[in-house]
Amino acid sequence: MMRLDRFLCEVHMGSRSQVKEWIKKGMVQADGLTVLKPEYKVDEENTQITFRGRLLSFSKFAYYVLNKPAGMVTSNRDPRSPVVMELLKDVPQKNLFPVGRLDKDAEGLLLITNDGELAHRLLAPKSHVPKTYFLRLKEAFTKGQEKRLSEGVDIGEKKLCLPAETKLISEQEIFITVWEGKFHQVKRMMKAAGNEVLFLKRVAFGSLALDETLASGAYRPLTDEEINQLKKDADYDVGK
Ligand code: URA
Repeated sequence: MMRLDRFLCEVHMGSRSQVKEWIKKGMVQADGLTVLKPEYKVDEENTQITFRGRLLSFSKFAYYVLNKPAGMVTSNRDPRSPVVMELLKDVPQKNLFPVGRLDKDAEGLLLITNDGELAHRLLAPKSHVPKTYFLRLKEAFTKGQEKRLSEGVDIGEKKLCLPAETKLISEQEIFITVWEGKFHQVKRMMKAAGNEVLFLKRVAFGSLALDETLASGAYRPLTDEEINQLKKDADYDVGK
């Protein structure tokens, strides 16, 4: 059970003070009856809450996409550096965490959720979820480097890397897509291929692409369609 005003905040209707106003104005119904008290207790799984006649559904999971700026550690806490989770101060949900890591100097798409099972499946090596990065390189990207990456380079792990796909943008700028997520994966792959990464930005994670309109440091909730698509990417049974 939870307070009605909290329920409305958790389904992203508005701030606590806004939703209290709306409740007092009689805009919210619980099981068909108008409730005027923000502290009224509702069963978030079973009470039918409507706002101006629109049914609101509660999900205990939240999903956000964040455009990570350089200089922040991908973590909930760090004793020495600012962390990405500081950027999500205004969200109501607890226990959110970043799915996978981007290096401190890296930028771009980070998925943030509290859905541990989806995160686990997206990151599981056997899911082979593709990740695409924009790279600025120290040297011109050569055909030989492209070939080595497409065959699977040796970065000192037990097995060779899975083949990576590259797309040339300019002499020293490429997109690279990888199907794994080892520590410093892309930087190590480029080194093994004979080049060096100067700048790295993740632009896609599975079916989710970084929208150009999301400023550095900004975030937004995922749409239901994006969430379902990510569940499919992770070979997740959406029907469950
Ligand atoms: N590969 C890297 O080397 N660094 C990242 O941040 C992500 C992928």
